[in-house]
Amino acid sequence: MSKVLILYHSASGNTAKMAQLIAEGAKSISGIEVRVREVDSATAEDVLWCDGLAVGSPTNMGILSWKMKRFWDEVMGPHWMKVDGKIACAFSSSGGWGGGNELACQSILTVLINFGFLVFGVTDYAGKLTTLHYGAVAAREPRSEDVQAACRTLGQRLAEWVAVYVDHRCNEHPVRKTRMGAG
Ligand SMILES: Cc1cc2nc3c(=O)[nH]c(=O)nc-3n(C[C@H](O)[C@H](O)[C@H](O)COP(=O)(O)O)c2cc1C
Repeated sequence: MSKVLILYHSASGNTAKMAQLIAEGAKSISGIEVRVREVDSATAEDVLWCDGLAVGSPTNMGILSWKMKRFWDEVMGPHWMKVDGKIACAFSSSGGWGGGNELACQSILTVLINFGFLVFGVTDYAGKLTTLHYGAVAAREPRSEDVQAACRTLGQRLAEWVAVYVDHRCNEHPVRKTRMGAG
């Protein structure tokens, strides 16, 4: 059974709600064990344990929060060169649209790339005007159906990539499943 970790920081609960939706999406794929960890209680062992990782942070001045950055500096720094090849993605809640939530996702992805993670975005639309090309984003809490769907889709896609690339379950490949028909 392969393993997915949802690691997040949330000062006022919005990113935490996104994390729960992302976990829901990941659990929609069979054979995946899902852990959700808040940054203050997360350990390096959690990251070493997982095959796939979603990292979420509130948008703080257009980038990830200092607490999430500190986790990667101080907790994971000593484990640099031990996590290459794991699959990862990002999510962020901001105070408003245009407040930099995609930039915050990119800053998370930059940290993850530095550690050797294989990072991805999602091409699917989660609603008529809602995409998650750089990760799932929300303005404050994930209230609308579209934003909730984006969060679930991110978790599902993470679990699908883990199923395909870690467990070699090619039938879970999202392009084969949804766009080209199974087989
Ligand atoms: C120090 C600080 C910096 C922030 N910077 C931004 C920002 O650059 N853009 C933005 O839209 N919101 C910004 N916000 C608002 C938060 O991103 C927003 O309230 C978010 O929903 C909080 O998520 P949380 O409930 O998971 O902590 C900032 C908040 C704080 C405390």
